[in-house]
Amino acid sequence: MQFYSRVIFPAVCDLILRQSFLVPYRREMLAQVEGEILEIGFGTGLNLSCYPAQVRRIVAIDPNPGMNRKARRRIEQSGIEVDQRLGECERLPFADGTFDCVVSSWTLCSIDDVNQAVAEVHRVLKPGGRYHFLEHGMSPLPGIQKWQRRLNGLEMRLAGGCHLDRNITAIVRTQPFTLVQADEFDLGKFPRTHGFMYRGVATK
Ligand SMILES: C[S@@+](CC[C@H](N)C(=O)[O-])C[C@H]1O[C@@H](n2cnc3c(N)ncnc32)[C@H](O)[C@@H]1O
Repeated sequence: MQFYSRVIFPAVCDLILRQSFLVPYRREMLAQVEGEILEIGFGTGLNLSCYPAQVRRIVAIDPNPGMNRKARRRIEQSGIEVDQRLGECERLPFADGTFDCVVSSWTLCSIDDVNQAVAEVHRVLKPGGRYHFLEHGMSPLPGIQKWQRRLNGLEMRLAGGCHLDRNITAIVRTQPFTLVQADEFDLGKFPRTHGFMYRGVATK
């Protein structure tokens, strides 16, 4: 099982999420990030090539050592200094008000206690800091939701705890962000159970 979660799953995840049509979405999510930056659920480092040129350093956290290992080559090639931490977003090892921006993509689906994770994101942001997210989740269509609920158990086992049916904007709004800008869209190229996206910025 450990071989699956630390070797096979990181490779499969990388293969699916490195597809070139996703790059513009990543770039757009990262276009305004600046200052002290934390990326949660860093995975295999697929966002690295999408940060704006002025970003020279980030802190990254992920609990899967297999993901961290697979990210190393990208880190070396990126020219960005990455302070890579092994850990869970539910317990961030940083003081209150440390970061100007926190970033996540395709991550909130997989976090066990997602409300606690978003509370931690809010805690570690400076006042006025921003949480930039690009996440998949619950479709607005009842027929698709039905399949998302049916497939959830299998998806969680095969894809590192991924839930298909989370309403990401509602989860972000559980924290006292002063402003949450969000939009929702279908990626079009993934099955409709997996391709409904939430992207936005929440300001502390
Ligand atoms: C589907 S991958 C996405 C990777 C990357 N963010 C990307 O856009 O390609 C989800 C990532 O979330 C990480 N993850 C799972 N539980 C987590 C937690 N509690 N805290 C932080 N990251 C977590 C996984 O290890 C995995 O690397």
